Amino acid sequence: MAGTPQNMILSRIRLCNFRNHTATSIEFGDGINAFLGENGQGKTNILEAVSYLSLTKSFYASGDAEVIGIGGEAFDLEGTLVSDAGVHHQVRVACTRMPQEKKFLVNGTPPGRLADVIGRFPVVVLSPENGSITFGGPAERRKFMDLTLSQVSGAYLEDILEYRKALRQRNRILADNRTRGTLPPGVIEPWTESLVAYGSRIAHRRALFAAEFRSHILNAYRSIMPEAENPGINYLCGFETKEGDDVRGYAARLSADLEARNPEERRRGLTLAGPHRDDLRLTINAMDVQRFASQGQHKTLLVALKIAEYSYMRERHNETPMFLLDDVFSELDKARVHRILAFAGGLGQVMITTTEGTVFGRSVAWGNHNRRFAVERGTCSQEA
Ligand SMILES: Nc1ncnc2c1ncn2[C@@H]1O[C@H](COP(=O)(O)OP(=O)(O)OP(=O)(O)O)[C@@H](O)[C@H]1O
Ligand SMILES: [Mg+2]
Repeated sequence: MAGTPQNMILSRIRLCNFRNHTATSIEFGDGINAFLGENGQGKTNILEAVSYLSLTKSFYASGDAEVIGIGGEAFDLEGTLVSDAGVHHQVRVACTRMPQEKKFLVNGTPPGRLADVIGRFPVVVLSPENGSITFGGPAERRKFMDLTLSQVSGAYLEDILEYRKALRQRNRILADNRTRGTLPPGVIEPWTESLVAYGSRIAHRRALFAAEFRSHILNAYRSIMPEAENPGINYLCGFETKEGDDVRGYAARLSADLEARNPEERRRGLTLAGPHRDDLRLTINAMDVQRFASQGQHKTLLVALKIAEYSYMRERHNETPMFLLDDVFSELDKARVHRILAFAGGLGQVMITTTEGTVFGRSVAWGNHNRRFAVERGTCSQEA
């Protein structure tokens, strides 16, 4: 219904030749949607398809060809997204294998660039691969910041894309110089300028993000784990900065840092300062999560990070995000599962996969708002 304020939802989707779904149609509820089934039946594949409509790509596959049904030549996804204001959008992604070509259409029209779609239909995904946010290296945490910030700010995404371009060019020039031993004047300078301009904005935004995110993560952590543990998040900038610096201050410092490292950069053929070397330090009771946290603490913090991402995005975006929870309950005790479900019930549209249907117990009232689906060998049917 146009004009009725609500949460943004995906009301329906059709998957054609997408992974093991040859032809699957789903009508979603606007609350919790649970996808139940044994291992390997196609539950995660449904969330992956949903993420395609929002992010233009999979949240974990490395390429589009990988998700085309084996033996098939193309996949086709199509769905209806209803905005907070009640406006219906038909979104379609189709991709062929040979030649590999991806078409993205919103209401029949391709966006100028795929990047223009990011953030339009915001989504937060929690999947087992995300474990690397708390376990893995800095790149995983930069990815986490980027995906969150890109969906709330088109300008940030633009800066990231331009920064990557400048970094690639600059590294290529430095590597070339290393093999040839000469660096013609004026070749690297324009890329250094771009690197500093975009890099300072990115770093400044990320520092602000870490500060703003702190209260979200604390609230999220408390909602699933009321005990006396204190999560912490700190931004570690990939160049020298001082607290209170504005963007111009960041730029001056990055520029100076690059200048100081110039001889080493030439020797190693690499850009040695900038936000591509940033990290986020995650702690529980002031101890480094990466090194000291237990399995359960890792998982709890990860879930809290994602709930915080959701609340951060909802606060800063004019659309309510969709929340995709892939296999979130494994490794968590009953009390935590119960709290997560109670929390999820108060959000917008949530999609949950699990092999263990019993986890829901009586926490969720199934019907039109909250729906249950059985997923079996690439099919999906709604349960009563
Ligand atoms: N490109 C593809 N074409 C056809 N089938 C595929 C393709 N990629 C994966 N599959 C199949 O999809 C199935 C896995 O689906 P999915 O990952 O959604 O399972 P799941 O229900 O989430 O299982 P689990 O509970 O183990 O996570 C496997 O049977 C796999 O063989
Ligand atoms: Mg799965």
